[in-house]
Amino acid sequence: MYVKLEGLNTAGSIKLKTAIALVDSLEAAGRLADGGWLVESSSGSLGVALAGVCARRGYRLSIVTDPNANPKSVSHMRALGADVEVVTERDQAGGFLGTRLARIRELQESASGPQWTNQYASPANPRVHSRKTYESIVSELGDPDYIFVGAGTTGTLMGVSRAVAERGADTQVYAIDSMGSVTFGGAPSTRRIPGLGASVAPSLFDGTLVPEQHCVDEIDTVRECRRMAGLEGFLPGGSTGTVLAGFRALEESVPDGSLVVVIAPDMGERYLDNIYDDVWVVDNYGPEAFDFSIRPTSYAMKTTGGGIGSL
Ligand SMILES: Cc1ncc(COP(=O)(O)O)c(C=O)c1O
Repeated sequence: MYVKLEGLNTAGSIKLKTAIALVDSLEAAGRLADGGWLVESSSGSLGVALAGVCARRGYRLSIVTDPNANPKSVSHMRALGADVEVVTERDQAGGFLGTRLARIRELQESASGPQWTNQYASPANPRVHSRKTYESIVSELGDPDYIFVGAGTTGTLMGVSRAVAERGADTQVYAIDSMGSVTFGGAPSTRRIPGLGASVAPSLFDGTLVPEQHCVDEIDTVRECRRMAGLEGFLPGGSTGTVLAGFRALEESVPDGSLVVVIAPDMGERYLDNIYDDVWVVDNYGPEAFDFSIRPTSYAMKTTGGGIGSL
């Protein structure tokens, strides 16, 4: 099994590729004048990545985020020159995305308002993951038998799935999300770990391309992150913990000798105050979160594609 550590680039997450692609596409469409103003909704990683790209290219950037964003990510964005606004009102699904998007629309109402990079709908988002994320895997390893990908905006997931389809490869793509996210059609509920999941279904998502859709409870994400840290000496970020927990729940059905790739969107340093903080973990999930002997469960949201089922 190979874990692709996207957190090792200069923005600390897979979102560096997304950020460059989103800004490039606005520039190519002639929608950004010199010194122009951009706005985006981000739970952390894209905001940091966009802030770096905008600093370098001389654009003003506003980021709308929410209380689940890691304080270090918010400070990181500000250090790179972004204005960061934290919305605190929950939307109808109990999340914050609806409120974040409403705030963006408000900012855009004035004639001199910002351009929205719109990671949730821009075709540049999945495209860059077809062209770069997946291509870099294939160029090093060839087509994997299985690839496990988390779902946030689903840019990575859709990009990888399209690239697999275009190549005509037999690769089985497993989409992993957090329980409580609405993307795969599950009931909304409170989520505390930023990165994966959505309280408003992302318009980029096309479920017919990825029949294997699984959700993981946040407590299993926490257990997986802490297990990796304590037993493997590797500090994964929250979405990486979710995808690894999804893999672990399903691994007994993966045939021996399979080439498996897991995309790890970021590293764990940004989560030291929550996932890796004992008090925060007990307060939110109870002491069972420290019991590594409990195997994660994967809840199959859709299994029409055959292949391995949920456990
Ligand atoms: C840390 C992290 N992991 C994973 C994702 C999900 O990636 P995508 O938006 O391509 O689905 C995000 C998205 O915000 C993220 O910030």
